[in-house]
Amino acid sequence: MNKQALLDQIAADIVKNNVCPDLAKQATQLVFGDGNPDADLLFIGEAPGKREDEQGLPFVGASGKFLAEMLESIHLSRSQVYITNIVKYRPPKNRDPSPSEKQEFLPYLIRQIDVIKPKLIITLGRHSGMQFLPDILISRDHGQPTKISIVVPGNEVGDERTSRVRGDDEKRTEPYDMYGEGASESATKQSAVKHGSRTGLASQEAVMTLVILPLYHPAAALYNGGQRQTLLDDFALIPTILEKIRNDK
Ligand code: URA
Repeated sequence: MNKQALLDQIAADIVKNNVCPDLAKQATQLVFGDGNPDADLLFIGEAPGKREDEQGLPFVGASGKFLAEMLESIHLSRSQVYITNIVKYRPPKNRDPSPSEKQEFLPYLIRQIDVIKPKLIITLGRHSGMQFLPDILISRDHGQPTKISIVVPGNEVGDERTSRVRGDDEKRTEPYDMYGEGASESATKQSAVKHGSRTGLASQEAVMTLVILPLYHPAAALYNGGQRQTLLDDFALIPTILEKIRNDK
């Protein structure tokens, strides 16, 4: 199956498994994701808003317009990256997604990541950042790439029962040295499947290593001129970080 077919299968599973039925009932449609399934850059927002709910595509409203502008500032278009959200139905009145809603969608997001295999994941906003970096303080940590490990089941990747960001007892995050000469390994390229109890993983579980770049949400910049410049400055780091990851062996 090609990547698009695999992504279509994940979207179909969300509907089939009746994920977040209360959200689904009041939403117009599922907003699964958009862009190039072979992209090196994956952008993850929070949840669809009104325009996204109407069109079935992520980031097509005011925040999306600014996101497109920022992509242009680093000579990229939407069709060269992949864009999605943690929660894939619009929460009523654009309220924040709840912890349980984010948790319910997490296995599907991890499957999405595993199919796309991006070199760099850019989280947009606090909710998205916290999904991967639970201790994040966005005002402190924005623009700093961090390497994390995610545990995924070996057979049915993203299975609801077991996909998780690694537990507190396991080494979970480390800063990613974007300028260093060191032998950091690239994002999912080094996805290692480890078997047996000595690894602390259940049999068949796999560890996926990702580089996460947490950024402010584009909507924040619409209301705060200072954050607009911060976001543009952070965006300008993306080509350098990506180049470093591509060159890592
Ligand atoms: N905000 C988000 O987080 N996601 C969207 O798709 C649109 C606005």
